[in-house]
Amino acid sequence: MKWIITGIAGFIGCNTARLLAQRGDVVIGIDDLSRPGADLNLRWLNEQQTVAAFHRVDVRDHAALSAVFAEHADADAVLHLAGQVAVTTSIRAPRADFEINALGTFNVCEAVRLHTSKALLINASTNKVYGADAGPLELRDGRWFDPAAPLGTREDRPLDFHSPYACSKGVADQYVLDYHRTYGVNTVSLRQSCIFGPRQYGIEDQGWVAWMSLAALSKIPFTIFGDGRQVRDLLFVDDLVDLYIRCAENPSLVAGQAINAGGGPTNVLSLLELIAYLETRLGVAPTFTFDEPRLGDQKVFVADVTRARTVLGWEPQVTVRQGLDTLLDWLGEHRHEVAEIVGSRRLDAVATTD
Ligand SMILES: NC(=O)c1ccc[n+]([C@@H]2O[C@H](COP(=O)([O-])OP(=O)(O)OC[C@H]3O[C@@H](n4cnc5c(N)ncnc54)[C@H](O)[C@@H]3O)[C@@H](O)[C@H]2O)c1
Repeated sequence: MKWIITGIAGFIGCNTARLLAQRGDVVIGIDDLSRPGADLNLRWLNEQQTVAAFHRVDVRDHAALSAVFAEHADADAVLHLAGQVAVTTSIRAPRADFEINALGTFNVCEAVRLHTSKALLINASTNKVYGADAGPLELRDGRWFDPAAPLGTREDRPLDFHSPYACSKGVADQYVLDYHRTYGVNTVSLRQSCIFGPRQYGIEDQGWVAWMSLAALSKIPFTIFGDGRQVRDLLFVDDLVDLYIRCAENPSLVAGQAINAGGGPTNVLSLLELIAYLETRLGVAPTFTFDEPRLGDQKVFVADVTRARTVLGWEPQVTVRQGLDTLLDWLGEHRHEVAEIVGSRRLDAVATTD
């Protein structure tokens, strides 16, 4: 299969490109290399000759983007990952967030409609489209639990955007789905939970599992916003790539749908549970302090992944513990380069949700 991947030099993009190339697929990459560490990921991809062609393009530049799609009009799948990824940054710079996520995704929709209309467009959406905690929560076994949704949040839960990031990603999610309704373009929006794995340069603003793991390894003090008992379902990046591939191979089964992409109720972790695991695994207690919860930070988000299982036979294969061990092994080997990249981006607030 031939793929176009926007945001290829990011965490999810470079892991996807690696696994696709291992299958013998042809991968065309787009990225503006704006995220610190993206150049390293691109160099890593090039060392393995994973990418057939790379285009340094900003998704806000519709003419340049369109030219790349015209050149690769025979693509079978388009994976749209490029984006502004942090809630905190979206609050500080809402216009840039809107232009990158909403306008950028609109530009991708148009490029697909005009040039690669045979391809399935897979959009990396987010669980943030579902908004705040739904109802009364309970503390069970030291973590928050939603008794009204024991299997997690389903795709038919009403959308409710709480932050500029949720708005811009929500607009993108809806544009992608409407391009199927209005133009018949094959599209799917995958509402991703917390994704984790190697080559993730987690920072205080985004990528909490990688950030806290690095901080614990490097003995950097960090902040927990809220009581630390908030929970997320985690999905190891290779399992997400498996879902992308299943979508690309079965476009008629997924076209026009929103599908949750998370670890589901069996792969849930609270912040305090991560810290306890890090202490056991590293033999040193991480240093952290508590602060007030941040805007839009749910106490519970767990995705119900029944739709992905039913439609595509997909199931996460990597447990949270296996995934954490893989991440920690990688961080252990690359701690210094990652700390340098992350150090250049340490900001004053933590997003714990994506
Ligand atoms: N990682 C998660 O847990 C998670 C969860 C939910 C949704 N998502 C979504 O998945 C996608 C990929 O996330 P990631 O974790 O790999 O993020 P990432 O920051 O590692 O990768 C994003 C890539 O996009 C590039 N980029 C940013 N702005 C761009 C622009 N204007 N034009 C072209 N390229 C641009 C960056 O340089 C980077 O390489 C994002 O859209 C994100 O919102 C991620």
